Amino acid sequence: MSLESCRILDLPRITDPRGNLTFLEGGRHVPFAIERVYYLYDVPGGAERGGHAHLGLHQLIIAMSGSFDVVLDDGARKQRIHLNRSYYGLYVCPMIWRELDNFSSGSVCLVLASNRYDEADYIRDYGEFQRRARETRG
Ligand code: TYD
Repeated sequence: MSLESCRILDLPRITDPRGNLTFLEGGRHVPFAIERVYYLYDVPGGAERGGHAHLGLHQLIIAMSGSFDVVLDDGARKQRIHLNRSYYGLYVCPMIWRELDNFSSGSVCLVLASNRYDEADYIRDYGEFQRRARETRG
């Protein structure tokens, strides 16, 4: 799994003078079946989240409010992506090290995930991640 598999998805948008609306339908707008939703909020200035990879989990990260950066790393290359629109979703495939930082005040990060929480699916050590990513690349 490499950075090329990660991408920004443009979600449907119903613009309206009363306020805009975005929706997501399972099996249609998200490239995996959604098993879990979680969100980060009340993130203090300067805080960093993430700092791990997943063995099998697929995720879609959305800046529901405010903005933040996601740094993606496939073990060979890194890319920093600024999310600041609630109609963009960043799809992150398995075996990508991710870090989230640069949170604006009051921002909310919504994550749709393909599986329930399972600590056994995490790689929390960057050295181990690099070793495994190298093995996967062959
Ligand atoms: P973690 O995934 O390490 O947070 P982040 O990557 O955003 O910094 O999770 C932080 C803690 O929350 C950890 O103890 C596991 C727990 N947790 C759950 O219980 N369920 C979940 O769905 C998530 C994402 C985390």
